[in-house]
Amino acid sequence: MFVVLLGPPGAGKGTQAQRLTTSTGLLHLSTGDMFRENVRGGTELGTLAKSYMDKGELVPDEVTIKMLLERISRPDAAEGAMFDGFPRNVVQAAALAEALCERDDAIAHALLIAVPDEELVARLSGRWLCRACGAVYHERNDPPATEGACDKCEGELYQRDDDRPEVVRTRIEGMKPPADLLDHYRTAGVLREIDGERGLDDVTADLLEALK
Ligand code: AP5
Repeated sequence: MFVVLLGPPGAGKGTQAQRLTTSTGLLHLSTGDMFRENVRGGTELGTLAKSYMDKGELVPDEVTIKMLLERISRPDAAEGAMFDGFPRNVVQAAALAEALCERDDAIAHALLIAVPDEELVARLSGRWLCRACGAVYHERNDPPATEGACDKCEGELYQRDDDRPEVVRTRIEGMKPPADLLDHYRTAGVLREIDGERGLDDVTADLLEALK
């Protein structure tokens, strides 16, 4: 089963994808995580991606699509995946649909996590991530047991460069799922909107229900 998680920055896509993959066994594929790995590894792709990410802008489609299609061609993605942060527009959605169609497959669910802008700003400015395993925390809403250390692996927690206040508002404005992308999945009959302005467990329960 192939599933798309949609929502603005800070909606909870990464947090919920980590929870859902634990309960569904689906592979979690985040294009943001892939870019950040490349940045850490100092690759050419990482250098290119960073120049866009630091400004809160999308990395060009041709680069992003090539990276994602290569990733889903690997054996561990043969049966399905949960996409987090991809697609961002109809060009990316069409490329994904075409690749899945060649495998006689298609997106089964596109789940939109809806959260108002002011809540997004608060979430992103309080977000902390584990450098080692990628676990997501929030200093108020979902704090780690020990400040600065990951509950799961004791890795060091850090804040993303693009969560700086001056970049956050640009990201929120520029990265909302566009109307034509939502129409793409509405027309395919797979779009569901989930109220993301609630506790983590309530949002997870609704998403799991939508996947049934
Ligand atoms: P990406 O990493 O995908 O960032 P994003 O879409 O901006 O989303 P975020 O990771 O910021 O938010 P999230 O929805 O995952 O929220 P989270 O779960 O962390 O992309 C980064 C960059 O890479 C992009 O800006 C772009 O440059 C590039 N890129 C990526 N994909 C691309 C593509 N397809 N095409 C082109 N460029 C691309 O939660 C946020 C915080 O809120 C956390 O602290 C969490 O603990 C807290 N929280 C979550 N849920 C709740 C809740 N229910 N209640 C209270 N707090 C909550």
